[in-house]
Amino acid sequence: MHTVKVNLGDRSYDIELGTGLDQAGAHLKELGLGRKMALVTNPTIKKIHGQRIVDSLKAAGFLVMSVEVPDGEQYKNLDWANAIYTALLTNGFDRKSALVAFGGGVIGDLTGFAAATFMRGVPFVQVPTTLLAMVDSSVGGKTGVNHPMGKNMIGAFYQPKKVLMDLGVLTTLPKEEFLSGMAEVIKYGVIRDPALFDYLDKNRKKILSLEPDVLTHIIKRSCEIKAEVVSKDEHEGGLRAILNFGHTVGHAIETAENYTMRHGEAVAIGMVYASRLAHRTGLCVSSVPERVERLIKSYGLPADLTALSRQLSVTELMYTMQVDKKAEGGKVKFVLPSKIGEVVITNQLDEGVLKEVLGE
Ligand SMILES: NC(=O)c1ccc[n+]([C@@H]2O[C@H](COP(=O)([O-])OP(=O)(O)OC[C@H]3O[C@@H](n4cnc5c(N)ncnc54)[C@H](O)[C@@H]3O)[C@@H](O)[C@H]2O)c1
Repeated sequence: MHTVKVNLGDRSYDIELGTGLDQAGAHLKELGLGRKMALVTNPTIKKIHGQRIVDSLKAAGFLVMSVEVPDGEQYKNLDWANAIYTALLTNGFDRKSALVAFGGGVIGDLTGFAAATFMRGVPFVQVPTTLLAMVDSSVGGKTGVNHPMGKNMIGAFYQPKKVLMDLGVLTTLPKEEFLSGMAEVIKYGVIRDPALFDYLDKNRKKILSLEPDVLTHIIKRSCEIKAEVVSKDEHEGGLRAILNFGHTVGHAIETAENYTMRHGEAVAIGMVYASRLAHRTGLCVSSVPERVERLIKSYGLPADLTALSRQLSVTELMYTMQVDKKAEGGKVKFVLPSKIGEVVITNQLDEGVLKEVLGE
């Protein structure tokens, strides 16, 4: 088992990699939580992996109530947050009772938000079951729900008490979901770790066949990078924005596709365009966008706008980026690589250059 620490003073917590679901109860017992516990999950995950975690929590003495949210991004909303509050109130949960988010990023974001707001904050634990949730959404404390007018528009920074990962659950994850998570792993290589980038290139076969050692390595490295960045800048005052590499164009694509495209797939396309922009503005040599695009394609991830379900005009894409919440003072913020392993943040991109690169 490996532990990665997220250092945030009295809100610090451990990410435990390689904990079996059957050991979840023993791990959570150490946290001094109340006896009542709500396991928030969806029917897909509950059916495949639910029994093991429920048994383990019960064996550790917790009184476990399961709250099932239907499977899908469209249920990450205030109505379902409210359904969780109702279940908690109906069952007499108090401020010491804990919530366990057992699922992918949708369940993690929704449960974290419910935990942040129920009785002004109750403890919660993340047990991520997708690669994307393991390397990204379960770590760092961004929680939230969607509003009809925009994704993740309602939310709170609220850190979990612990993150527990059983890598074995990834064997049942559909391949496309796994690849979506790989886009975020590739992101960490580009923004912070050239050795990880090379490792992803050299170990593709082993990664795609889910070899435990290589999987542990890339998830651990991703968590270390995220933990380091979040520890330095919890509320995205500066440095944390580097984690948004590929997300400016990525979010615009997700919006344009009405959230039918997976997050990681949209980010993959976004990373290619951001890397091309970096080269076009003289920030990096041409091998950077070439290497980024090659690695993304080698994992079977989409790399340009032709992957979208409809033709998207540059004008529409530019407009969508401008209304995105990352636009500051009307200027779109971009994270651009200066080399593999290093990025800069800018909101000074020339509109003409942007149009030209997006039109390629
Ligand atoms: N909070 C953050 O920092 C952050 C960062 C990135 C993304 N997100 C959010 O994460 C969400 C996307 O998360 P996701 O990619 O994990 O998608 P998801 O939660 O929708 O899960 C994808 C699918 O995989 C299924 N699944 C999950 N684990 C499984 C398993 N082990 N075996 C079989 N099937 C399994 C789910 O039921 C679902 O159908 C988005 O809402 C996005 O906004 C949040």
